[in-house]
Amino acid sequence: MGIEVVVEGLTMSFGKQNIWQDVSLTLPAGEVSVMLGPSGTGKTVFLKSLIGLLKPQQGRVLINGVDMVSSPERDIYETRKLFGLMFQDGALFGSMSLFDNIAFPLREHTRKRESEIRRIVMERIELVGLLGAEDKLPGEISGGMRKRAGLARALVLDPQIVLCDEPDSGLDPVRTAYLSQLLIDLNARIDATMLIVTHNLDIAATVPDNMGMFFRRRLVTFGPREVLLTSDEPVVIQFLAGRREGPIGMSEEKDAALLAAEAAGPAAHPSAPRVIVPQLEPSPGLPPRAAVTRRRERVLGMLDQLPPAARAAIRDTYAHHAAAPTLTLPAPGSGS
Ligand SMILES: Nc1ncnc2c1ncn2[C@@H]1O[C@H](COP(=O)(O)OP(=O)(O)OP(=O)(O)O)[C@@H](O)[C@H]1O
Ligand SMILES: [Mg+2]
Repeated sequence: MGIEVVVEGLTMSFGKQNIWQDVSLTLPAGEVSVMLGPSGTGKTVFLKSLIGLLKPQQGRVLINGVDMVSSPERDIYETRKLFGLMFQDGALFGSMSLFDNIAFPLREHTRKRESEIRRIVMERIELVGLLGAEDKLPGEISGGMRKRAGLARALVLDPQIVLCDEPDSGLDPVRTAYLSQLLIDLNARIDATMLIVTHNLDIAATVPDNMGMFFRRRLVTFGPREVLLTSDEPVVIQFLAGRREGPIGMSEEKDAALLAAEAAGPAAHPSAPRVIVPQLEPSPGLPPRAAVTRRRERVLGMLDQLPPAARAAIRDTYAHHAAAPTLTLPAPGSGS
């Protein structure tokens, strides 16, 4: 089962450039979370901080009691083995076949026999739909296939935490829809805690249990998907609608004068009523996601701390779910 990741008061700068400050959030065990944010707001830096590749100046990242910021490197190295990472660019070795690329972490970090490695690698290759392409070099396949190869490689060590940095970049809309389903199916199969950085609004709307967003050197929000999807924050509304009007400009932040002019202008952009589309379900034949029941308890338990719109949306989510026969609650006292 996935592991909780607790981030407390994280602050990161490169020299004089502050990237973000005082970031706190918890990735709930086994749930899928999505992180949004304009380019350059430090999402990739955040993922690298979670695995201890970058060292924020302040704060902690706690995983099973290990602080990925300041625990001894040996502990950090061990904890890093719990992660599966899918980088923004696929990060495959160009001179190695897909098979060897995907086998790499197994050969590097385990003492498994070659026959066992072959079994695991072929299973992952099948999982991401690359059967038949295993002998190709990364340069001989499409960008979408490279993405999926990167995902397969992220999965060979049975990760309990999966981080994906823009898994959709360069994919067409149909491939992106398949990828969304693949991520949910993956979560149903392995119950790993997942964090996906994406600019894709379809993935954001249909995949995660939780959503967050970086803007102007802080984490604007992080919580159940219903919170962000019903948020009144101008930056969130603008991002979700993909509009020019709002605080996000071409060079990340608009100047105050332009913003004031926009605000003073005619009410040119009444926000469209926002409909929360249902979250994807695992494909037929797969087990239900173990996180669903845990999330339901967790989110219903925090209901009175949430804004009214989010509260209503969550009630709606679970009113809808309650009708589904697969999600009936066990009778009190029946154990688990
Ligand atoms: N190793 C580094 N040294 C110095 N500056 C860095 C380093 N890595 C990232 N930065 C800076 O941190 C900022 C955030 O970069 P990051 O790649 O995390 O953005 P991002 O949110 O992932 O953007 P995108 O959506 O375009 O991928 C950028 O200004 C970048 O130049
Ligand atoms: Mg990035």
